[in-house]
Amino acid sequence: LTLKIKGTTNIYGIIGNPVRHTLSPAMHNAAFAAMEMDSVYIPMEVTDISQAVAGLRALGIKGVSVTVPHKETIIPYIDKADDIAAKIGAVNTLLLRQNPDDKSVIVEGYNTDWIGANRALNNFIQLKDITAMIIGAGGAAKALGFGLIEAGAKVIIANRTEKTGLRLAAQINCDFIQLNELKSVRANVLINTTSVGMTPDSDKIIVDPALLPQFEVVMDIVYSPLQTKLLREAAKAGCTTIDGLHMLLYQGMAQFELWTGVKAPEDVMRQALERKLKNR
Ligand code: ATR
Repeated sequence: LTLKIKGTTNIYGIIGNPVRHTLSPAMHNAAFAAMEMDSVYIPMEVTDISQAVAGLRALGIKGVSVTVPHKETIIPYIDKADDIAAKIGAVNTLLLRQNPDDKSVIVEGYNTDWIGANRALNNFIQLKDITAMIIGAGGAAKALGFGLIEAGAKVIIANRTEKTGLRLAAQINCDFIQLNELKSVRANVLINTTSVGMTPDSDKIIVDPALLPQFEVVMDIVYSPLQTKLLREAAKAGCTTIDGLHMLLYQGMAQFELWTGVKAPEDVMRQALERKLKNR
């Protein structure tokens, strides 16, 4: 990849802390290059989020991904969050546009995490009227939960800690189940949003493998390793499996499309992610 940065180059990036391990620059720069766009995507490690948003406005940055720990705390500093991002209470994407009237910059926030998850699932299953069990009650569970409701699915939150699980279920307006009572429930889809099974604890699994035949599709948002123990056991149980690269890819494609208005080059972006993951 040869970067051709010129006076006209549009600047995009990712703001978070830390950002040194992010896979997003590889994915977005590969897409810009493949589409022959005069754009570049750079990492920006940020601690002061209000100053960072002021900086984005002042520097004419066109768009950024927003990651941990800023997805929620950034909202008061942007001009507008789209409806679902506001409901989720988190944005992972900013689009900066110039106001045609007074040339001021308008900062809009979106959440493509749920869009990415729905798109990944939609490749394998129709979401309307199905039942989806989400394991975990953190930020990812919240985004995916609201997204699945949006798509017309019935959602059940399963969590280890009852209090946080019940709180999220109340926000989404869905059912809650204790993680250790999973055997009483069937669902079309099971999604792991916890970090259980992630390197270096890749021998861990969030559910008893004996319960996996209760589900048709099993998705893991963990992408290191790509084939988590959950997905290996799910495949053995006859489930369709969706690895964490899918959500990463599709949330990124949705960002690219928000920023550029053109269809994201899926194969190029997937290959860039696969290459990065292999070389880790
Ligand atoms: P994120 O915001 O990235 O989604 P998070 O807020 O750290 O992540 O949420 C982590 C979720 O994974 C929580 O629901 C947590 O369960 P608790 O509420 O019981 O803490 C869940 N989780 C993490 N490690 C777990 C483990 N070993 N077993 C079961 N659940 C776990």
